[in-house]
Amino acid sequence: MLINSKTKVCCIIGNPVEHSLSPVMHNHAYTELNLNFVYVAFKVERLRAAVSGIRELGVRGTSVTIPHKVDIIPLLDKIDETARNIGAVNTVVNDKGILKGYNTDCDGAIHALQEVTNLRDKKVVLIGAGGAARATTFGLRKEGAKVLILNRTVKKAQSLSREVQAEFGDLTKLSEIGKSDILINATAVGMSPNTNESIVPQEYLHRDLTVFDIVYNPKQTRLIQDAKKAGCKIVYGYKMLLYQAMVQFELFTQHKAPIEVMEKILVDALES
Ligand code: ATR
Repeated sequence: MLINSKTKVCCIIGNPVEHSLSPVMHNHAYTELNLNFVYVAFKVERLRAAVSGIRELGVRGTSVTIPHKVDIIPLLDKIDETARNIGAVNTVVNDKGILKGYNTDCDGAIHALQEVTNLRDKKVVLIGAGGAARATTFGLRKEGAKVLILNRTVKKAQSLSREVQAEFGDLTKLSEIGKSDILINATAVGMSPNTNESIVPQEYLHRDLTVFDIVYNPKQTRLIQDAKKAGCKIVYGYKMLLYQAMVQFELFTQHKAPIEVMEKILVDALES
């Protein structure tokens, strides 16, 4: 659809943003549904000024990425409960001048897992205690999973575990995977260019396990390859990216997201 004076503008703010795949996913979805929307990327250094701009220009939807996910919270009018608990916002919806923050990373991770498994009462080993681990752990606890957080820096695992009522440990506890239903890698280990690395020794993987690697570049991480060999169910990292964008699209446009189109665009972009 041609841009005109009624076009609704959405954007991503972050620094850097030039490699973001959100613009292609959202714009293809708008085209698919013939919506008068456009989605652009803005590199933002002065966050307060950018939020004023969003208000004044009536930007309908904003995706928020590193380094602004935490600092944006006091600049908004309302924060959804999950985002407040996580302490990070990756989505802002502008409803007639009222800016409300959400965290769709959490929804994205949970939706990706729920495609292949139930979560209630499942035993989960989650490795990592950074931003991605935080968003995922809050979602898992909300869905009633039992979570063991393992992290290289054990203090960080301990402080996150206190907030969500999970157990914690360091990476010497990885053998607990043997007694678990779900394994999640929420660290950057295995990400390009270190594609031959996995944080989990192959011997701990077993066929009753679902393995979700949050790393999406490459798609077939070493952990995912090992998990396939061990007969595990797998969840690709790109699914979290896809489903967080799906939830954003629906918040921004109030239309159901054309998920097949978004998935194809994302997978093609990641493989090119
Ligand atoms: P993100 O926002 O993507 O989650 P982050 O907040 O920087 O990124 O968190 C990175 C996570 O990956 C941390 O849990 C980190 O462990 P530490 O807390 O010990 O730093 C983990 N991580 C990164 N590289 C790692 C490595 N080589 N081995 C083990 N854990 C690693």
